Amino acid sequence: TFSSAEDASNYLAEHIIQKINKFNPTATKPFVLGLPTGSSPEGIYAKLIIANKQGRITFKNVVTFNMDEYLGLPPTNDQSYHYFMYNKFFNHIDIPRQNINILNGLAKDIEQECKNYEAKIKRFGKIHLFLGGLGPEGHLAFNEAGSSRRSITRKVTLVESTIKANSRFFDNDSSKVPRYALSVGISTILDNSEEVAIIVLGENKKFALDKTINGKKNDPRFPSSYLQDHDNVLIVCDNAAAGL
Ligand code: GLP
Repeated sequence: TFSSAEDASNYLAEHIIQKINKFNPTATKPFVLGLPTGSSPEGIYAKLIIANKQGRITFKNVVTFNMDEYLGLPPTNDQSYHYFMYNKFFNHIDIPRQNINILNGLAKDIEQECKNYEAKIKRFGKIHLFLGGLGPEGHLAFNEAGSSRRSITRKVTLVESTIKANSRFFDNDSSKVPRYALSVGISTILDNSEEVAIIVLGENKKFALDKTINGKKNDPRFPSSYLQDHDNVLIVCDNAAAGL
């Protein structure tokens, strides 16, 4: 727990830098990093960009997999997660474009797109670090309440509270928020990752953070409680989210 969002982001950015720098990549074995969108990770991305420019970290041997994408939004739409990731992060670092993986919300065959994504993650063997955030009601990626511990990459239906929470990015107009998304599953995250790191900022995450840590383990009503089922989870939060 940190007193400010800035300190929390700084800590997690340094953790990522150290982990990547300690790793010994080979041509066939890159560092595999899972990434989220949302306002919570923005500070981390800003700090990683600076570190990259300062030469403290390179992403040349890093392969990324994003957690999710809205269904039906083209990458040029500024609310698509493609747009977010390039705008906030990828355009400013030295990562090779072919190392970036994001679900395609415009894929003709959605089922095949999800299958390929899941298979590609498995081909890399493991995700060394999966960074994530929490939805205010305890969702992880776009795994809404009711998601199974065994869930893998698939099309999901967004619940009303998520649509409402994310409408702030769509002119505060819920009707503009997509109703569906593609998302990695709980199993995709927990069963493929060496470490899961979660950034939780702000008072409106108090409920979700409490359910994640103190709630019943593996409670499908609060998918972030599945994190209790992984033995290497780092939760970094500010005092507001911790209720301090
Ligand atoms: C969206 C994303 C989640 C993210 C959540 C919280 O629903 N799909 O992956 O964790 O928003 O976002 P924020 O950090 O903006 O509160």
